[in-house]
Amino acid sequence: MGSHPSNDFTALWAQHDLGEVVVSAKEVHDRVLELGRQITVDYAKNPPLLVCVLKGAINFMSDLMRAIELPVEVDFMAVSSYGAATKTSGVVRIVKDLDVDLLGREVLIVEDVVDSGLTLNYLRQYLGARSPQSLEVCALLLKEGEQRVEQSLKYVGFTIPSDFVVGYGLDVNERYRNLDAIYTFTGEV
Ligand code: IMP
Ligand code: MG
Repeated sequence: MGSHPSNDFTALWAQHDLGEVVVSAKEVHDRVLELGRQITVDYAKNPPLLVCVLKGAINFMSDLMRAIELPVEVDFMAVSSYGAATKTSGVVRIVKDLDVDLLGREVLIVEDVVDSGLTLNYLRQYLGARSPQSLEVCALLLKEGEQRVEQSLKYVGFTIPSDFVVGYGLDVNERYRNLDAIYTFTGEV
C-alpha cells in the first residue's frame, strides 16, 4: 500500500476522477497469491466452496480461485443494499441466491470490501442458517475503524483508510471495475 500514482499507469479515460493508488496492481497480485497459498494449506483436507459476492468481488474471486491449489467449487450471490451510492444502509436484498446446497460444506465467502460490516453480517446469518460445516470470510479490503458490527474475518488482503475506493472490481455507479489497481475516488457520485 501507499504507492505513488506515478508508479502505476492509470488509464486515460479514468484519470480525471481518480486520486492516489491505494493498492497497486502488483501489490494486489502478490497478496492474492499469498492468500491462495494460505487457503490451500488451511483447507487441504476439505476443499472449500467459494461464494463470490457479486459484483464487486469478481476480479478478486477470479484471481483467488486460480491461486488455490485444491479442487474448489465456486458459486455466486448477488446482493444489493439500499441507501446512498457510497454508504450502505444495512438493509440487504438478495438479488441472486446460490445454486448449491451448503449442508456440511466448508464455505468461504469472498468479499471485496468490508466497510460498516452490515452487508457481511446479514450474509453470514443468511448462509449460516443453511448448516454449513464452517462459514468463513476472505475479504480483499477492510476499512479501518468503520465497522459497526464486530467481524471475525479469517482472511484480509489489506487494511485501508476509510476513503471510498474504486478499481479491481469496486465501482461507483458501475464504473471502474475494470482497473487493475485500487484508487481513491475523487469525482462526483
Ligand atoms: P458494508 O455493508 O458497509 O460493509 O459495505 C459493503 C459493501 O458496500 C461492499 O460489498 C461494497 O459493495 C460497498 N462498498 C463499501 N465501501 C466501498 C468502496 O470504497 N468502494 C466501492 N464499494 C464499496
Ligand atoms: Mg460488494
